[in-house]
Amino acid sequence: MFSLSVLTAMLALIHLGNTLTSSLQQVTAFVAGPTSAGMYIYVPTTKLSLAPIIVAIHWCGGSANDYFSDTGYATYADTYGYIVIYPDSPSSDKCWDVASLASLTHNGGGDSLTIVNMVKYATANYGGDASKVYATGLSSGAMMTNVLAGAYPDVFKACTAYSGVPDGCFYVSTATAGMAQAAWNTTCSSGLYIQTAQQWGNLVRSYYPGYTGSYPKMALYHGTADFTLAYPNLAEEMKEWSNVLGVSWSQNISNTPIAGYTKMVYGDGTRLVGFSALDVGHSVPVRTEDDLVWFGLMPSSSTTSTTTSTIASTTLSTSTTTSTASSTSTAAHWGQCGGTGWTGPTICESPYTCTYSNAWFSQCL
Ligand SMILES: *[C@@H]1O[C@H](CO)[C@@H](O)[C@H](O)[C@H]1NC(C)=O
Ligand SMILES: *[C@@H]1O[C@H](CO)[C@@H](O)[C@H](O)[C@H]1NC(C)=O
Repeated sequence: MFSLSVLTAMLALIHLGNTLTSSLQQVTAFVAGPTSAGMYIYVPTTKLSLAPIIVAIHWCGGSANDYFSDTGYATYADTYGYIVIYPDSPSSDKCWDVASLASLTHNGGGDSLTIVNMVKYATANYGGDASKVYATGLSSGAMMTNVLAGAYPDVFKACTAYSGVPDGCFYVSTATAGMAQAAWNTTCSSGLYIQTAQQWGNLVRSYYPGYTGSYPKMALYHGTADFTLAYPNLAEEMKEWSNVLGVSWSQNISNTPIAGYTKMVYGDGTRLVGFSALDVGHSVPVRTEDDLVWFGLMPSSSTTSTTTSTIASTTLSTSTTTSTASSTSTAAHWGQCGGTGWTGPTICESPYTCTYSNAWFSQCL
């Protein structure tokens, strides 16, 4: 069984690698900032003349190249002709600034504005379609996706976030934009920052005062066994976007899209959905095809089978584990360094110490 899943993952990797018509490019001419985040882009040879743009945002400790390799957005760009921007965090711990008031606020600065400037650069220089811009991310990238949805609802039309926290939850009073190391808010990461839907909605709206336009549609995933950004953050995210988008919970659908996941439908399910992944830890595997359907870039009839998505998920977790194990023997600040089932590095980079949190999770603090 072990060898079968490894074989499946290898085949999936080969499949993903072989189908690309183009390659990941760093856009060195992008200097707008205001932070020094790197802009990487995948432009398929089959690009539409006016191409939709997906912004795909890496996790803490990850990179643009990691997110390019470990997700399927580039492969499908060849089929559907959209562009993918992979921002690369400027922080030494490779986390995104989702803590400073500057980054949380519309046109306030920080990494969020740098990412928006990348989108503008792509519309001006690569034939991107400003009316079809989408954001997605994992972990720190999911937190940034929530921040972008709140601060730049005029830019993004739809978002998906895997294992993140609500917009504004990670605010740290002392954090300043462009800091070398991203600030960490333990109250939020532990799932202890609980607000009413109205309070969350007011917080989001406070980041773009006077804005009366629409907010992006949101699909939010979270694992019940997440001990890095604790599970209660999913319920808080649902409350937040339920208030902002003005839709209330309507039904739960179990074992959707796969066994163990519960789909939480708000309103008619076209503007807000949540996915609670039973016994899944940090982070929930990215579901590339479902994202593309959510963004309206792929017809839902094209999501042929659960098998395809599962293979993509296997690819992500397998290659993440592999690259973590082979590229570095130490875990980064805030990174996992131990716990039941953990196969990654158990030693922290200097000057951090591997600190026991519970049986499933130790972290570099
Ligand atoms: C953590 O976030 C909460 C919610 O945004 C905030 O009230 C609290 O002050 C933050 N903690 C720090 C240390 O800034
Ligand atoms: C819907 O599903 C979520 C996630 O499993 C759960 O927390 C919630 O209680 C469910 N709601 C109802 C009304 O069953």
